[in-house]
Amino acid sequence: MNTILVTGGLGFIGSHTVIDLVKQGYSVIIVDNLSNASAKVLPVLEELSQKKIPFYPVDIREKKELEKIFQEHQIDAVIHFAGLKAVGESVQKPLSYYDNNLISTITLLEVMEEYSVRKLVFSSSATVYGEPEKMPLLETDLTGATSPYGRTKLWIEQILQDLCDANDAWDVVALRYFNPLGAHKSGDLGEDPKGIPNNLAPYITQVGVGKLEKLHVFGNDYPTSDGTCVRDYIHVLDLAAGHRAAITYLEKEHCRYEIFNLGSGSGFSVLEMIKSFEKAIGKEIPFVVDSRRAGDIPVSYADTKKAEDKLGWKVQKTIDEMCADAWRWQKKHPDGFEP
Ligand code: NAD
Ligand code: UD1
Repeated sequence: MNTILVTGGLGFIGSHTVIDLVKQGYSVIIVDNLSNASAKVLPVLEELSQKKIPFYPVDIREKKELEKIFQEHQIDAVIHFAGLKAVGESVQKPLSYYDNNLISTITLLEVMEEYSVRKLVFSSSATVYGEPEKMPLLETDLTGATSPYGRTKLWIEQILQDLCDANDAWDVVALRYFNPLGAHKSGDLGEDPKGIPNNLAPYITQVGVGKLEKLHVFGNDYPTSDGTCVRDYIHVLDLAAGHRAAITYLEKEHCRYEIFNLGSGSGFSVLEMIKSFEKAIGKEIPFVVDSRRAGDIPVSYADTKKAEDKLGWKVQKTIDEMCADAWRWQKKHPDGFEP
């Protein structure tokens, strides 16, 4: 397999994966409607990879536009990142999440079928474990969703399973990511959330550059060692390498439908994350403890054995590297891609 179509390839995880794939010799085509990305990411990708990368500013719900891309290129596989991802916003605007995430995926699958491209890697999320009762989380554990965003991931996983059951020619890998952070080593590619960040890492780095006054820690009365929530953080470059491993797996195996956790297998508390960022930033991060955030679970971390055994993949980078890399990007680009 040589040519990979990457949907959502200008977004946070997609852009880092594109660099990784191009460096490994794959031809990559990007489609992204720029709803949550800047067009300025493309020249950065071309500079870092020293390659011209075909880009289509298309909404993948537009079937005719998507078909044109498949007509113009001999695509071997698709990595499907495109989607809306803010949990809180999905509760406010469920229809827009169901419309964007579900219709885009169904349209993509229809066009792939039409052009006999039947190898897909899908971005799922640890959010599909709902409110779990035991750790670490295994791919075979019960699933559930606590938000419209989470439901789109669960339903898409089900759609993919049904498709593979119905047609033996399909091979699909769903990757359940845990908590990605970090950035490219250059400091020129990183996470650029619009507005006030919802996630912990970009919130802390924005406090670090002085764009936000202080961090609000959501609860310190959880049943964990220091009372704050524990999560499985993963460097975005390790995540990118996980996608490459999934593509290699699809090249070798007729797997039908497989799900893999992509996480480190270790948990860190919010207070531990603050400490690690303080080390990277070289100063204290001011914070206050607020009440719990609705929908948060106390602890979440992955069982990573399946990915290690079948994909031959495991994380390489430490929490300190994640925080240092996230900080390098934020310090160099305090206003992200659109100053
Ligand atoms: P992101 O928002 O940075 O990237 C998604 C990209 O998809 C954006 O560039 C956006 O413009 C594009 N897009 C959205 N809808 C589109 C459409 N209809 N047509 C074409 N392009 C469209 O998000 P990310 O953090 O890179 O996440 C990528 C994927 O991974 C998402 O599906 C997300 O749900 C999933 N995921 C992310 C995380 C995380 O913490 N970042 C965790 C688990 C799963
Ligand atoms: C969130 C989403 C999850 C999604 C994941 C990756 C929710 C409830 N869950 O996970 O569905 O897959 O992002 O995009 O939104 N925290 C603070 N202060 C902050 C921000 C976060 O204390 O300002 C804490 C949270 O309580 C949590 C931890 O930091 O314990 C990590 O939070 P976050 O980065 O938002 O990720 P998750 O909640 O794990």
